[in-house]
Amino acid sequence: MSARARIVGWMLFLVALALSVSLSATWSILLSRLDARVSAELENETEKLRRYVANETAAGPPASVKTLLDGWLSVNPPDRWETYFTVVGGRIESIPGGDRPPAALDADEDLVRSVARVTDRPVAGWTDSAAGRVRYAAIPVQITGDQTIGQFVVAVFYDHHREEVVASVQVLAITGLAALTLAGAAGWFVAGRVLAPIRLVRQTAEAISDSSDLTRRLEVTGNDDVAALAATFNHMLDRLDQAFAAQRTFADDAGHELRTPITVIRGHLELMGDDPHDQRDTLALVNDELIRMNRLVDDLLTLAKAGQPGFLTLEPVELAELPVAVVARARGLADRKWRVDEVAEEYAIADQQRLTQALMQLTANAVRHTQEGDLVAVGSAVRDGHVVLWVRDSGPGVPVEDRERIFRRFERSRVTGEGSGLGLSIVRSIAEAHDGRVFVMDAPGGGAQFVLTFPMVAEKMEMA
Ligand SMILES: Nc1ncnc2c1ncn2[C@@H]1O[C@H](COP(=O)(O)OP(=O)(O)OP(=O)(O)O)[C@@H](O)[C@H]1O
Ligand SMILES: [Mg+2]
Repeated sequence: MSARARIVGWMLFLVALALSVSLSATWSILLSRLDARVSAELENETEKLRRYVANETAAGPPASVKTLLDGWLSVNPPDRWETYFTVVGGRIESIPGGDRPPAALDADEDLVRSVARVTDRPVAGWTDSAAGRVRYAAIPVQITGDQTIGQFVVAVFYDHHREEVVASVQVLAITGLAALTLAGAAGWFVAGRVLAPIRLVRQTAEAISDSSDLTRRLEVTGNDDVAALAATFNHMLDRLDQAFAAQRTFADDAGHELRTPITVIRGHLELMGDDPHDQRDTLALVNDELIRMNRLVDDLLTLAKAGQPGFLTLEPVELAELPVAVVARARGLADRKWRVDEVAEEYAIADQQRLTQALMQLTANAVRHTQEGDLVAVGSAVRDGHVVLWVRDSGPGVPVEDRERIFRRFERSRVTGEGSGLGLSIVRSIAEAHDGRVFVMDAPGGGAQFVLTFPMVAEKMEMA
């Protein structure tokens, strides 16, 4: 079922529910009012008769009950949908003139008989007639000087009034149904208009995923929720597009980087002659290239893993130990003035091996950009809840305009062209995996200082 049908269906269901509740409430209210009205009318007639009898007998009792009731009928004609008759001594005595009632009740012998039994006080009851159900009251009348008991019967054609109620509720129901139909049509129209942009978003999204064309975007109009949805969707496409583009460039660059050593190796092997000296030189060269390739592949794998779950193995890392271990390992790389600047006597939750890997990349760079006897120092500290790790050297430093660029992949030295240019991007990936970042600044005495910093307690990093 479409969203539109569901929305309209629910709306109609609720409106119909409200309508039926109001109809049944109206029905029972009108009916109880009708009952009250009919009872009031019967009581009123009883009261009127009582006053008449009191009046007539004030001067002295009339000749007979019959005379009294006839007099009463002659001064008190029935209303519409009402009828009177009198019974004296168990027999129909008289019915008033005027309009004929909808049904002649005095012909109903059962009714006459039961009315004749009313001798004590007024009795109300129901009876059926040719004109539907009738509500009546029989009022006994007796006077001094006449043993006979008379009854005055006032009857209201109840079903007639009830039909009026039915008719009003019917009118209400019909107008309600018409309103419901109208509301349904309007709801269908409005839901269609409201949902149209969402349908458009869906269709466009489908078209984009079918064609895998990530450059297409949804049209954003207005500033409602749907526009926000489209904008969010577009934003997601931007990021996907960028991510795929980055991946493509990376794959291209990686392929290119790997092709170069392969070409070099093949060239050397093809040119290799029979001379054992020549052969040894060539093999040494090929070996070098293979070592370089191996490193490159390792670096590429590290970068490919970065950002994926499981890249880091988190554990408490002793921050004081880290620089000491790195200096101890790096010492073998080259003859430099190796120093441990300062160490933090704290533990941080981090990946010890990845941090060591990052610091080793930085020291390898420092070695490459310094001379024998130059200073290379490593340190750790905790500042403002952040772990700060650094490697600084007394080399030429990094020009301000290069400080962003060098962290990108395959951005190698413009001067020497050495290295594959992946070292710093690996360092950056490791920093970012720790929710942190890496940057370069001027070392205190000139030279470069690379700083890797990340929060002591990162939100993203939860202990596995
Ligand atoms: N300590 C430093 N002093 C001056 N420049 C540096 C230093 N470290 C890095 N750089 C500059 O940043 C560039 C990028 O460094 P990165 O480590 O990413 O690549 P690489 O060292 O050239 O190659 P790889 O590390 O993959 O062997 C270097 O080529 C160099 O120009
Ligand atoms: Mg490097």
